[in-house]
Amino acid sequence: MTSSFGRFPETRLRRNRRHEWSRRLVCENRLTVDDLIWPLFIQPGEGKRTPIPSLPGVDRLSIDLLVEEVGQAVALGIPVIAIFPATPSELKTPEAEEALNPRNLVCQAVRAIKQVHSNIGVLCDVALDPYSSHGHDGLLRNGYVVNDETVEMLCKQSVVQAEAGCDIIAPSDMMDGRIGAIRHALDESGFQHVQIMAYAAKYASAFYGPFREAVGSSGNLAGGDKKTYQMDPANTDEAIREVALDLAEGADMVMVKPGMPYLDIVQRIKAEFAAPTFAYQVSGEYAMLAAAAANGWLDRDKTMLESLLAFKRAGADGVLTYFAKDAARLLG
Ligand code: PBG
Repeated sequence: MTSSFGRFPETRLRRNRRHEWSRRLVCENRLTVDDLIWPLFIQPGEGKRTPIPSLPGVDRLSIDLLVEEVGQAVALGIPVIAIFPATPSELKTPEAEEALNPRNLVCQAVRAIKQVHSNIGVLCDVALDPYSSHGHDGLLRNGYVVNDETVEMLCKQSVVQAEAGCDIIAPSDMMDGRIGAIRHALDESGFQHVQIMAYAAKYASAFYGPFREAVGSSGNLAGGDKKTYQMDPANTDEAIREVALDLAEGADMVMVKPGMPYLDIVQRIKAEFAAPTFAYQVSGEYAMLAAAAANGWLDRDKTMLESLLAFKRAGADGVLTYFAKDAARLLG
């Protein structure tokens, strides 16, 4: 290859890459511990840690162990943790009443964390699937997940979680109008300061499999899917409409989910709205990398950090990831 000016390339992009100090100097995006949200699964009991086979390295924890792990998150500087409950199947019902129990697993966990750790944010998912015997995020009427009745319940679930001390309410249910309704319900109950992170663009993805195993909802869903409320993976414009609505209804932050296969959505949303935008590197994404690393096919640490940096490059302000603790250790 010769340029019109002679035998050699006029522009040598490799010059800036030659030294480590120079690579640092021209680096465009950085991942830091401040970008991480760490999801944790909880279960009843004491001193109980149960591995999740499809999420190697991730365990379901009893609340006492959860509080210890949150202590590690605080020490590492992780800003926010997210809590997901594995509700015992005998407490799951068609109407998911346990979601509104102020002493349910999630509420107990939030209270326990807040008693010990004041300097970390606690995010709680809002949806009925950890509590419903059918595994759906909403209430079923004639086999269909109904919208408005579900939203009424999600409002109550949000208030119950806020009363327990939750800092960020994260509706993951994809019902229409739930952000506005939840904002209103929180404000009416005196929780004007509780933030809302809307799972605004959440797709009907096959990458949620290990999560459903972790919270014990996969068997209940029994081969069913969530396509009447979660988005079609083929769609992009629809994500823009979802985010526009959620922001107009009062969302403080928006999330795209899954993560890696949907970086185009992250980029478009950030460019369009310039609002705090997050991505959820979901259970199936973690499982893929963990499995390849366990087989020695990929370098776990390097692929993990590269996958997380990709979210920053796409424009995300942060990432919800099962790798959060490991990444924080490496970044620290
Ligand atoms: C439930 C919920 C799901 C996830 C987070 N919240 C599963 C689903 O929608 O079926 C998945 C997260 C993951 O796979 O890591 N509303």
